[in-house]
Amino acid sequence: MDFAELERDLLAQVDAASDEAALETVRVAALGKKGSVSELLKTLGAMTPDERKERGPLINGLRDRVQGALTQRRDALAEAALEARLAAERVDVTLPVREAPEARGRIHPISQVIDEITAIFSDMGFSVAEGPDIETDELNFTALNFPPGHPAREMHDTFFLPPDRDGKRKVLRTHTSPVQIRTMRAKEPPIRVIIPGRTYRHDSDQTHTPMFHQVEGLVIDRSANFANLRWVLEEFCRTFFEVDGVKMRFRPSFFPFTEPSAEVDIQCSRKGGEIRFGEGEDWLEILGCGMVHPNVLRNCGLDPDSVQGFAFGVGIDRIAMLKYGMPDLRPFFEADVRWLQHYGFRPLDVPSLVGGLTS
Ligand code: PHE
Repeated sequence: MDFAELERDLLAQVDAASDEAALETVRVAALGKKGSVSELLKTLGAMTPDERKERGPLINGLRDRVQGALTQRRDALAEAALEARLAAERVDVTLPVREAPEARGRIHPISQVIDEITAIFSDMGFSVAEGPDIETDELNFTALNFPPGHPAREMHDTFFLPPDRDGKRKVLRTHTSPVQIRTMRAKEPPIRVIIPGRTYRHDSDQTHTPMFHQVEGLVIDRSANFANLRWVLEEFCRTFFEVDGVKMRFRPSFFPFTEPSAEVDIQCSRKGGEIRFGEGEDWLEILGCGMVHPNVLRNCGLDPDSVQGFAFGVGIDRIAMLKYGMPDLRPFFEADVRWLQHYGFRPLDVPSLVGGLTS
């Protein structure tokens, strides 16, 4: 048996093992139970003392050197593996930190303005109500005191849905006023709600889109009157536009569901192509309002001799454009992220009367 050749062969195998698994195969083949070196060690028992004296050191030396080479190789492989991992997982701590989603995303101006409006009216004791976008003709018109065939139904440029089985056509609500009816039929006075939501009319230009937003206000109790309405609206405009005082003009108007009715303009200046509030000689229409019509109260099962109230409807998109200076309404609904990056709001800037409506 040529120990030197066996040793060269084993050491070469150890050197050639390129990972820990390959190295383990070499170890088992040499030092495992039936390994080549182990088999040699077993032969020592059957030897004469003289033979053992001569061969013992040779075989034991062989085993020790193979064992040593295995250990060394294992350490080297482990170190190389660690180096590779460190290189692969290297982090450049000098790179700028990428903004987290909550810092990168933007809140749409409409959502922001709805939150601002809600904050203002919550402070005045209003709660929020909602209704569906698809309404019955009854709730969108009839219960609101639009007589059948009344031209106001056409005035709204209504989107009608195909007739139901019973021949009735639902509509995309043309205003948030049907939720007045829903609220009065569901709740006992005193009622104090605002109703923000989507509304639809067949119309499109720089200040009109087929889908737009309104916020309805409704107050019903024993004594709510026009002076209260006026105060609520003035308080709202002053807070929303963040100016000390806004001059408002109430112009007599007509809505089937309010009597008397008014349209409200606010004072503004358009000097230099920029709209400013609380100054100037121009007027801008922002809402419709009035005292809830007795017929509407009756249609909701309320007695006009014991309760009364007022309602108003504000165009949200319109006042958002005015407050934040967007010249065109159409891009609001084009879902262009560049527009949103420019006009959107930071998600954590939640409007509140204490923290500030706009920061
Ligand atoms: N619903 C009316 C509109 O869309 C606005 C309005 C609401 C007027 C409430 C009076 C009272 O034009």
